[in-house]
Amino acid sequence: MNSGKRVGIVGAGNVGATVAYSLAMQGSCHEIILRDNKIEIAKGKALDMSQAAAAVRSHTIVSVAESMEQLTDCDVVVVTAGSPRLPGMSRDDLLMINAKITKEVIAGIAKYSPDAIIIMVSNPLDAMTYVALKESGFDRGRVVGMAGILDSSRMASFIQEKLGYGGGQIRASVMGGHGDDMVPLPRYSTVAGVPLSDLLSQDEIDEIVERTRNGGAEIVAHLKNGSAYYAPAKSTSIMVEAILKDTKQIYPCAVYLDGEYGYSDVVSGVPVMLGANGVEKILEVTLDESEMKMFDSSCASVQSLIDTLNKNNFFGDKK
Ligand code: 2OP
Repeated sequence: MNSGKRVGIVGAGNVGATVAYSLAMQGSCHEIILRDNKIEIAKGKALDMSQAAAAVRSHTIVSVAESMEQLTDCDVVVVTAGSPRLPGMSRDDLLMINAKITKEVIAGIAKYSPDAIIIMVSNPLDAMTYVALKESGFDRGRVVGMAGILDSSRMASFIQEKLGYGGGQIRASVMGGHGDDMVPLPRYSTVAGVPLSDLLSQDEIDEIVERTRNGGAEIVAHLKNGSAYYAPAKSTSIMVEAILKDTKQIYPCAVYLDGEYGYSDVVSGVPVMLGANGVEKILEVTLDESEMKMFDSSCASVQSLIDTLNKNNFFGDKK
């Protein structure tokens, strides 16, 4: 058990609270500190979760930071804070609003938990991971974005649904940004080691790829005024645990590229090794021509968001 570990969670909405709940149930750390502007709601959730932890004999305590100043000495901080897209709002509007929130939050983390590893969850995910890296001044291994685990889990669940078997034995692979042009990789997806192409027709695989790309939107269409949180939160807590337990396991995560895959100064989802130091290694998978083309257009989408931030002089002289 990692008895002394502290995990901060900024934004205690559906995703943040569910990350906290998952970690508390696993007893993954000693303390979870929720930070949210809705302090009373955060306090209620923290009490409720501490009591749930007691029910499963977990030693985890959930508390509340009333300001960023109280979010001290965390080993990991998860950032889920951000505004959802509202009617009439463009993608760029959301980008600027969440970039400003992220900037403020990251300044607090860098000041009060300077040794933390930051896991970004706020959307647009890859651009927010870029903002967090630039604003924190941290080493790139200490700022990592969630989404690849989520997107691969969605693909795995669609494969299981299509096959009608294989649950728990499916390894699905998705790279690229967490957007409409993410890069599902059927060639690197298997069921108990059997390649997908031996089990499904090309049409069926294409259908799974398309459904994976729309995985988030499919859930929003059902929920109407909210987006997914169970799978996003579980994917995040898997990353927190890999870091706290120093498992050195490989997961697809959003990370700043510095020459890998031929890209620099952009964030994208690639397989990485997670350990006590955050991203300890970036793996370079061999992509064929059409996979690389998809990866290129995914990076171009993230780059256009970063360009918008630069056009608005968001980074000032940090850039
Ligand atoms: C999702 O894919 C909203 O990014 C979130 O569900």
